[in-house]
Amino acid sequence: PSPIRRCATLSDTFRTETSELADIEWDNLGFGFLPTDYMYLMKCAQGGSFSNGELQRFGNIELSPSSGVLNYGQGLFEGMKAYRKQDGNILLFRPEENALRMRLGAERMCMPSPTVEQFVEAVKATVLANKRWVPPPGKGSLYIRPLLMGSGAVLGLAPAPEYTFLIYVSPVGNYFKEGIAPINLIVEHELHRATPGGTGGVKTIGNYAAVLKAQSAAKAKGYSDVLYLDCVHKKYLEEVSSCNIFVVKGDVISTPSIKGTILPGITRKSIIDVARSQGFQVEERFVDVDELLEADEVFCTGTAVVVSPVGSITYLDKRVSYGEGGFGAVSQKLYSMLTRLQMGLIEDKMDWTVEL
Ligand code: COI
Repeated sequence: PSPIRRCATLSDTFRTETSELADIEWDNLGFGFLPTDYMYLMKCAQGGSFSNGELQRFGNIELSPSSGVLNYGQGLFEGMKAYRKQDGNILLFRPEENALRMRLGAERMCMPSPTVEQFVEAVKATVLANKRWVPPPGKGSLYIRPLLMGSGAVLGLAPAPEYTFLIYVSPVGNYFKEGIAPINLIVEHELHRATPGGTGGVKTIGNYAAVLKAQSAAKAKGYSDVLYLDCVHKKYLEEVSSCNIFVVKGDVISTPSIKGTILPGITRKSIIDVARSQGFQVEERFVDVDELLEADEVFCTGTAVVVSPVGSITYLDKRVSYGEGGFGAVSQKLYSMLTRLQMGLIEDKMDWTVEL
């Protein structure tokens, strides 16, 4: 059926489907994909602008085997979450930040991108259309995955002639199988995630494919994930495969500065502001791998991982442990402040949440 016909039937199905909670086991959500009801699609020709976006039933999409995204990795993604409040309303967290980050990434990847307003409106429409998939309070969140890809056909290396912006959603719980228990990291000393002048600072799909080899090897040895070092000096912390990293020593919290090879996480940025508002000194700078030996606490931040305490880090033949099997005091405090704000349990003095 054509998109137009699908749209005509949307509002009827919509009313019944959004009136209740989806019939799934809400207690044991992990971070696996669960198909939901609707996705959002919007297209644009190279040199043009995005328009006529619409909701469609969730399903497979058609792509030319010669599309820019399949052949040359011309693609970006975003990650966001929506929480259900006690009163049933839904909260988004800083959606315009994701929109802006996608615009910066699109510029790096020679792609047109939706305006901030188009992006945020599309996210709202997709979440509302899939409202029954937003977990009950305390059971998790609805993960929102906006994609931007070169969908037009190319053969020689060049920007694609057509682009697709797509949003799909899936209910999720904790990212790591450890739940909110501390994760165990291994420092990777051969493979690197990003290089100066490369694309480490934008959310291009290739950055994530590039870490799979080290991540799979680490998981096979029982580690939760990999911590990358800079590729020039091979001694400064960069980030974990899917999240940013913070090191706590006394009242000082340090995190690698954004310098082109590190993904500018929105949770990272928010945690820095929350920590400063609580009187911590936060330093964005080069963090030497040896500082891990002296740290009181280490934690990771990201949309998917939220704030995850690190229980141990292995580097070459040394293993250093933190805490006693749970959150350290600083990471616990920051986790609690951020998540209570995201879930609407405390007043949002930062004006970060958007209520639907
Ligand atoms: C996120 O945290 O939302 C991300 O995009 C990371 C991804 C690997 C799950």
